[in-house]
This record gives sequence, structure tokens and C-alpha cells, in this order.
Amino acid sequence: MTTENGHDQNINGNGTSLNDNHSVEEEEGLNLTEDVADPYCNPDCPQVINFNDVSAAAYKIKGGIEKTPCSLSQMSKQYDMQIYFKKDFLQYTGSFKERGARYVLSQLTQSQAKKGVIAASAGNHALALAYHGRLLNVPVTVVMPLSAPMMKVEACKQQGSTVVVTGLDFGEAKRYAMALGKKRGLLYVNGYDHPHIVAGQGTMGLEIIEQVPHLDACIIPVGGGGLIAGSAIALKALKPGVEIIGVESERSTGFQAAMAAGHPIMSHVGQTLADGLAVPVVGCNSLATAEGHIDKMVTVRESYIALAILRLIEQEKAVVEGAGAAGLAAIIEGLVPELKGKTVVVALCGGNIDTTALGRVIERGLAAEGRLVRFGVTVSDRPGGIAELAKRIADQGVSIKDILHERAWLQTDVFSVMVRCVVETRDMEHARQLEREMRKHYGHVEFCLDKTAV
Ligand SMILES: Cc1ncc(COP(=O)(O)O)c(C=O)c1O
Repeated sequence: MTTENGHDQNINGNGTSLNDNHSVEEEEGLNLTEDVADPYCNPDCPQVINFNDVSAAAYKIKGGIEKTPCSLSQMSKQYDMQIYFKKDFLQYTGSFKERGARYVLSQLTQSQAKKGVIAASAGNHALALAYHGRLLNVPVTVVMPLSAPMMKVEACKQQGSTVVVTGLDFGEAKRYAMALGKKRGLLYVNGYDHPHIVAGQGTMGLEIIEQVPHLDACIIPVGGGGLIAGSAIALKALKPGVEIIGVESERSTGFQAAMAAGHPIMSHVGQTLADGLAVPVVGCNSLATAEGHIDKMVTVRESYIALAILRLIEQEKAVVEGAGAAGLAAIIEGLVPELKGKTVVVALCGGNIDTTALGRVIERGLAAEGRLVRFGVTVSDRPGGIAELAKRIADQGVSIKDILHERAWLQTDVFSVMVRCVVETRDMEHARQLEREMRKHYGHVEFCLDKTAV
């Protein structure tokens, strides 16, 4: 793949370009226009994974992955439900994806294990395969789209796998991986739909029911559908009455589209904080397996995902990525009111978030809660005008984070100055009180309150 500036963006495990002058299609002799079929994921003949498959996976991966805690949350009282968090972000590589990856790798034939596997992934599946590939001595190649978080790309390289960064989105990365896999005899491992992946992810459901046998419902984030399909099979088999609730971001609703259509369809995916959920075409095996086992699907807004990440840091001391926090976001947004008074397990299934992104997300979450507020007021340009404004803000118990004043751009009045502030407030009510105070004293006030998460 070549970028706009014509430079090859593909890098190998050492972080060096495979070829600085030619496109990789030429370098690898790959035909990226050909549709390479994945024999394990055939939409015309989907495979339904059953309870025995999940049990077999659990037996096989035991000892190879962490049995993560599933603990009662501090937030239970706040939301009037017994909330348990299944903390799969505590797996070694930071996500539940290790379950499926370990199982797939452990089931390879000897000759395939020697040749190796290939996968396309924006991060967690790649990381999981890279790590367990190293432990099990299976060569792993991962193809990551250009949009993949830098931290995940670097982590895969550190595990010693071959990393190719190419494609503007997951779809392009996958096309490349399928073509390269075909050429080199590497098994393509679909991260949400290979039958062994789905069975492996289901082991999370088995652990949940063992850890919280009295659960009424389980909330699970949905990308390609492997986690919810496998876990739902396990949970419903052992406790048919348990409610399974799937969560998607408002920017990637492919699973709901597929459920409505009766088969996976291409669905638009936008920029989302939950990058792990951004899958344009969900898995056919996952969809078929999950059929009849999902009681409800909900769509969370991005601002609530940011808020959920913030709350998990502040109240649970847990760093969870957007995809992993989507379940809590659904509760905060009020999308599951029927669960009040019930025992609910929420899968916190991934914790790999770029530190820079985390900083922005925290600010977004603070804004959504009314704890970070941006506003502008026009004040008199006479000496003391800005000092008076600063005092009025301080008198409200509000702390100024940023302040700047604009004189030249104010066209109407040369004796006034526009002051723009970013301030810290306690909560939305405190922010509104500040707004009232500003409007009381100043004629022109521009207040920017994010009212999505009140
Ligand atoms: C943290 C996290 N949560 C949830 C998901 C969704 O899993 P699935 O694609 O199996 O639906 C992913 C997928 O990558 C993920 O990384």
C-alpha cells in the first residue's frame, strides 16, 4: 500500500521499511485485487460453535492464560444494581483476545505451527497472537492498519512477531494479510470469527458463571462478535435465564446491522474511542452462533464511553480502553434500566489505550460530566476588567486552567476584550451556577456545556 505522499508505509519487525521505493504489492508480488476466501469463515456455510467447543477450549488453554478477577464494584450503589466487573484487561497483553489466540495456536497441525499464522488486527488480537506465538514457538505475522494505535504496534514488535503496517482501515489490512498468507502458506486467523477463536473467547463466559453464579445479566462489548457469541453460548448453557446484552459504539453498529439483515453486511465505521469494536463486516460464525442467545443490543454514544473510562480510573483504579469500557458506558447512559436491582456482570475486556489518547479521553470525560468547562465573555478593556472576571470566577470556587484574551478580532467594540477560559468545576450544577453568574455580570457570554452526560 502506498500513502498519499507516495511513501511505502510497510514496516517489518525491526521497524524498518520493507521497501522505500516500490509499493508492497510489487515487492511481495501480491495480488490485492483478488478475493481470497477464508475456509474457516464462509458466509454461505457458517459454523455454529457449541458448549462442548467452549469447554474443550477451556481445558486446553488452562494454565496458559490468566483467570482474571470478577469483583463487586464500588459503583453498585450509584446505579442501583450489583455490578461485577470481569477484569479481562488484566490478561498479560491487556485483553481477552489471548483466550482465542492461545486456543487457535494450540490446535494447529505440526506443519502449520512450523509455517506460522497471519492475522489482520488493529491491536488486541495481534498482540495476543504475537505473545502466545512466542510462548508456543509459532511464527506470527500481523498486519495492522495505519490507524492502529502506536502503542499496540510497538508492543507486537517487542513480542518478536513480523509486523506489517498497511491499509487505511481494517478492511484493507485484512485484504493484504489474506493475500500474503496465501502466498506464504500462513494460516489466516480471523480474530473474531475463526471457530477456535470464538470457542476460546467463550471461556470468559465459563469463568464468569463460576465466579458469579447468581448473575442475572451480562453486558458484553461487540466488535466482530466473537466474544459475545462464545460467552453467550457458555452462559446460556449453564444458566438459560441469564440475560445477554451486547454493546456497540454509535460509530460502529455492524452487528446490529447484520442481525437485522440476517447475515453480515458491510457497515460504515467511523472514528471511535472504542477502536477494538470498529469492524465493518462482522463474523458469520459469530453471528450464527449468537443467534437466539442475545437478548438485547444497545448503542452507546462516544461521550459516555469517555465518561466510562474516566469513572473506571477514578472509582475502580482501572485503566480500560474504549472498547473495554463500552459495557459500563451503557449503564451510565441509562440504556439498561431493566437491570436495576439485579446482579450484572460487565466485561471490562481490554486495557490497551495510548497514553496520549488517554489524556484526551480524560478531558473529554471531564467535559461530559461538567467538570471541565469552556466559555468566553466580553469584558471591559479598562484596567482591572480581566482581574475582576478572574475574581468572579474564583468567588464561585472555580479554578482557571487556561485563559486567553482576544482584542484584535472583536469587531464591534474597541473598548472591550473577549476572554476565553477553560475552567475546572465540581459537577454540572456547579458549571451551571458559574454560567448564571457570568450572564448576570456580562452582556455577551458564550458558554459551552456538554449536556450529553448530565
Ligand atoms: C477490548 C475489546 N473489547 C471488545 C472487543 C470485541 O470483540 P469481538 O470482536 O470478538 O466482538 C474487542 C475486539 O478487538 C476488543 O479489543
